Amino acid sequence: MEDSVFIGGGGENYAVKQGLTLKYANRHGLVAGATGTGKSVTLQILAEGFSKAGVPVFLSDVKGDLSGIAAAGSETFKLHQAFSDRAAKIGFDDYGYEAFPVTFWDLLGEQGHPVRTTVAEMGPLLLARLLELSEAQEGILNIAFRLADEQGLPLLDLKDLQALLVWVGENRKDLALRYGAISVASVGAIQRRLLILENQGGAKLFGEPALELTDIMMIDADGRGRINILAADKLMGSPRLYATFLLWLLSELFEELPEVGDPDKPKLVFFFDEAHLLFEDAPKALVDKVEQVARLIRSKGVGVYFISQNPSDIPEDILGQLGNRIQHALRAFTARDRKQLRLAAETYRDNPRFSTEDAIREVGVGEAVTSMLMKKGVPGIVERTLIRPPSSKLGPIDPSDRKQVINTSPVAGKYETLKDRRSAYEILKLRAEKAATDAEALEAQEEDMPVHEREFNAGRRYSGTRVTRSTSRTTRKQDSFGEAMGKMVMKELSGTTGRKLVRGILGSLFKGR
Ligand SMILES: Nc1ncnc2c1ncn2[C@@H]1O[C@H](COP(=O)(O)OP(=O)(O)OP(=O)(O)O)[C@@H](O)[C@H]1O
Ligand SMILES: [Mg+2]
Repeated sequence: MEDSVFIGGGGENYAVKQGLTLKYANRHGLVAGATGTGKSVTLQILAEGFSKAGVPVFLSDVKGDLSGIAAAGSETFKLHQAFSDRAAKIGFDDYGYEAFPVTFWDLLGEQGHPVRTTVAEMGPLLLARLLELSEAQEGILNIAFRLADEQGLPLLDLKDLQALLVWVGENRKDLALRYGAISVASVGAIQRRLLILENQGGAKLFGEPALELTDIMMIDADGRGRINILAADKLMGSPRLYATFLLWLLSELFEELPEVGDPDKPKLVFFFDEAHLLFEDAPKALVDKVEQVARLIRSKGVGVYFISQNPSDIPEDILGQLGNRIQHALRAFTARDRKQLRLAAETYRDNPRFSTEDAIREVGVGEAVTSMLMKKGVPGIVERTLIRPPSSKLGPIDPSDRKQVINTSPVAGKYETLKDRRSAYEILKLRAEKAATDAEALEAQEEDMPVHEREFNAGRRYSGTRVTRSTSRTTRKQDSFGEAMGKMVMKELSGTTGRKLVRGILGSLFKGR
């Protein structure tokens, strides 16, 4: 079992050890099953196993019942006997209780370290999805991103995007020459969407310091991979935010990590719980990109495991890429259920000892139909596997213990304070103020002039010819001001986020168009 993560016992009397081969763990996986059939515990033991093998893990805790991974199980726990019996049955001889190294994260910053990204890093495609924009509105968002890039306006938080949209609205007549008509109604609609997102807690996701990926890929001094747990219980109230955030994280991993080919074990294993949320009324373009990311992220050494009640929740192209499968029981009440069950069974390599379809219907709680990739990446024959019991605590950790884990984590203090450096909002505000004082100064200056000169100037100003106006003093002054701004922005761009801003807008998978 050395090169694999121990899953449980299969074969006759569950006596044959079953494992997930580390070498193929980057070929993704699926954990499926109806409510209460054992998906969460399976997730827990997989996280434990990967951690022990020195592989960092990222998972979201949708119901708040996975935080116990940070604490050891206990002999006084009501299921202690059941766990021990199960361990004995599958020949898990060195079964014992232990805690695992956990880093807690929370988009809302309450139950873990705040996790943030910038508006620029999220990019227009994912933001449009997050805001549920129409095609026309998405077009305007794209223009806004392009302008921010051209004008050197860093988009860090929602305030920046809001200020930029105001600016786009104000300048829409000039912009129309280059980009076509920009409707006030559409700009307004995006602004309203941003307000909704803000009310859902979305403002907390955007800003700096942004998450550094190395912080979710840590290995402890004792060689165990850290398990990153994202608090997602409250987040599930805004499913779009949840799904888009995880998708962003995946695409970020894909873009930032170097190629490693097929490593002996993954660099990171990423669990995508409630995966159906990702695909619910998702446009084809998005599904295609998820499929593409899943296919390509393998060679970066990242294994992605989708967790869902029913495999039919996941688009076929993606399902086909999930090599390691743990299928808990599916219900078969309706004709539709039975059809889905049959389809699910058809995707496995049959075991002569039993019918896959019957097995998927019959397996008990904490038991599953499993098929792991074997030599040369070929799917193994289906087994009925009794899943091993967890070594860490089943259920949520005590709030005081959680606090302790957060305070002593390797990233404690790094993300807690929001940094609000100069970005689009501040720059646009400064520009507006500067333009106002310039205009005032010019007016005051003119009042001091002899009457005939003032009249001449006034006449010139009202001559209506653009040529004269563009060489007027105010504009020139603004230009040199713009230059100074430009230099300042370039300085800011030399920071990480600045570089990312440019990259974020110039393209790559999710970010450009
Ligand atoms: N591998 C296991 N070893 C021991 N007990 C298990 C195992 N798997 C499941 N159980 C028992 O079954 C219960 C339900 O499992 P679990 O919470 O994992 O189900 P679930 O599929 O995640 O349900 P839900 O859809 O409601 O989240 C557990 O609380 C535990 O008591
Ligand atoms: Mg569960």
